[in-house]
Formats: sequence, structure tokens, C-alpha cells
Amino acid sequence: MANPSLLILAGDGIGPEVMAEVKKIIAWMGDKRGVTFDVSEGLVGGCSYDAHGTPLTDETMAHAQEVDAVLLGAVGGPKYDKLDFSVKPERGLLRLRKEMDLFSNLRPAQCFDALADFSSLKKEVVAGLDIVIVRELTSGVYFGEPRGIFKEGNERVGINTQRYTESEIARVAKSAFELARRRNNKVCSMEKANVMESGILWREVVQEVHDRDYPDVELSHMYADAGAMQLCRWPKQFDVIVTDNLFGDLLSDAAAMLTGSLGMLPSASLGAPMANGRPKALYEPVHGSAPDIAGQGKANPIACILSFAMALRYSFDMGTEAERIEKAVEKVLADGLRTADLLGPEGGSPIGTSAMGDAIIAALDASL
Ligand code: IPM
Ligand code: MG
Repeated sequence: MANPSLLILAGDGIGPEVMAEVKKIIAWMGDKRGVTFDVSEGLVGGCSYDAHGTPLTDETMAHAQEVDAVLLGAVGGPKYDKLDFSVKPERGLLRLRKEMDLFSNLRPAQCFDALADFSSLKKEVVAGLDIVIVRELTSGVYFGEPRGIFKEGNERVGINTQRYTESEIARVAKSAFELARRRNNKVCSMEKANVMESGILWREVVQEVHDRDYPDVELSHMYADAGAMQLCRWPKQFDVIVTDNLFGDLLSDAAAMLTGSLGMLPSASLGAPMANGRPKALYEPVHGSAPDIAGQGKANPIACILSFAMALRYSFDMGTEAERIEKAVEKVLADGLRTADLLGPEGGSPIGTSAMGDAIIAALDASL
């Protein structure tokens, strides 16, 4: 059988640095686990704009459609702030999500024991936290038409449109219910049905999918603003949260801080199954390109490494290998190793990106 194929798009800012640590783990998998990937690399974001004048070329887009999984680092940076909207680095990522139809974005927020003290929330609020936000990723206000900046009389008006079809809501709801069945069987759906028609439809469709196909899963509904408040008050009440594209963007950053650092959070963006039965998939850390620390070897590679672990689990049916990586991360944290983002106000001596990657490899070796 052909080796599983991976397209690596390291992108901008700290993307290449954190991806370098994932490449070490991919090499380790080949050496020590006999799992070899066909790895190819490409450009996305600002680096692609610099080379080709577009944040994603048609060739790279086509290649992403063919591989078993895409691994992405990060896109964007102040250097590109002045670019025309249509060629901004983020457009490359949004094109990948849209054209691969990656409608279900899984963003786990898990608090490692060793970091429970580090969260800005009280330890008892976050210790043992293990929730997943399922964010709809291909529709809503991110893509709705009409959109743009228009002239109206003697002033400009900025327009974006929140738009959801029943089928778009139903398919992401289904993925959330499926995930909940493999976890603690609870889904909380978040929208603003009190002010938005799209929210009313969202609530109705999620309820219908539940009643028809998933009556065994416990379902609740919350307004997204109250959900944000509950995430800070008592996040352990949740198991799976399902929400739209924009609310999911906001709520997942908030959830990230519960775990101590944005530098810890992986994500999987999944679409429909391909001919080989694997879902179309892109894996990326939730954090951005962190231009303030880019190129300094300081970034935390854990979110990117855990994103690769998610690829092993969701694209390659290698749950045991994924767990091995997650355990190795847990081990280095328990040993007290910290990148700069994981040091509290009292400080300490941080290790760099590459040292963190090496420590995780050492822990992987020790696990054999
Ligand atoms: C995310 C990011 C992206 C988004 C940006 C980089 C386009 O914030 O993945 O959460 O808004 O979806
Ligand atoms: Mg975001």
C-alpha cells in the first residue's frame, strides 16, 4: 500500500520554526515506528505572496486536494498589513478551508495537570478540563454575500452577511454529535437566537438532527454571549460545544486561555470522506504567526506537534501513536520544561523551540 501522504505548509512567522519540530517527529516515526509518510512542502500566506504574488497558488490548492492530510503552521504578519484584502495571507488559509470544504473544525481545550497553576483562572476551575469546540468553518459571516465596503450617499458602509443553510448546520451538528458519542455524550449548541434569524434556524436544525438521529446524546442550547461567560465561570460543565464560524473563532480563543497558553492548542479541520474513506483534512495550531517572537527560536511547538497527533488519530487511524505523542508532551511538562509562553509572572528559565522538540523526542524514545 502507498505511504500516507502529507502536505506541509509551514507558512509565516513562527510557522516554520514550530513545523521544524513536527518534522523531527515525522522522521522519528519513520525510524522508530516504521511509519513513513510521503511528505511534500508548499507555500501559503505571506511567503507565497512574496514568491508568487498570491497567498495560495492554484497548484498548491490542487495538491492540497490530493493528499491524505495537510499540516499548516501559521499565516500573516505586519509586513502584509497593507496588502489588498484579496491577497492578504489569511485569504490563502480561508481558500484552503473553503475549497476543501472543511466544515467541521475541532478545537480541543485540554488542561494538562502540570499547567493548571498557570492558567489565569483558579486551579480548581481548569484542572482536568477536557472539552472540544466544534466550529463551523466554511460558511457564516466569513463567507456570506453580499460583502464589501460600499459607498452610500456621502459615506462608506462595510457589509458582511451571516448566512447558514439548513444542510450546513445539519452536517456540522452531526459531526458534533458523533464526536460526543465517543466522549462524554454531551453537546451544547451556541448561537444568538435572541437577536439573529440565522441563530433561530441554527437552534431548530441542531434540535431536529438531535431528535431524529442522536436522542441518546444530551443536548443543551445557550446564547453565545452567555456561553462565553460560562466558559470562564465553570468550563467543566461542557463536553462538546458546537457553534458557528465567528462565534467559534472567539470562543476557541477564550477556551485556549483556560489551558494556560494559546501555544498549546491544536486543531483539526475535517470535511467529507474522500474515495479512500479518509476525511479531507487540514491540521493546524490555533495560535497565529506571532510576528513579535518570530525567528527567535522561542515559540512553543506543542500546539503544532499536537496538531500532528490529531492527524494521526483522525486521518490515519493511528490513535495509539497519537496518544504516545500526547503522553510525551504531558511528560515534558510534568518534568518542568517550559517555553517562554508557559512561564508565569514569576518567570523562570525557558527553553527554546528546538529544545522543546528534542525533549519530546526523548520522551517518545523513553516510551518504547
Ligand atoms: C483562526 C484564525 C483565523 C480565523 C484567521 C487567521 C483567518 O483566527 O483560525 O482562528 O479567523 O479563522
Ligand atoms: Mg481565531
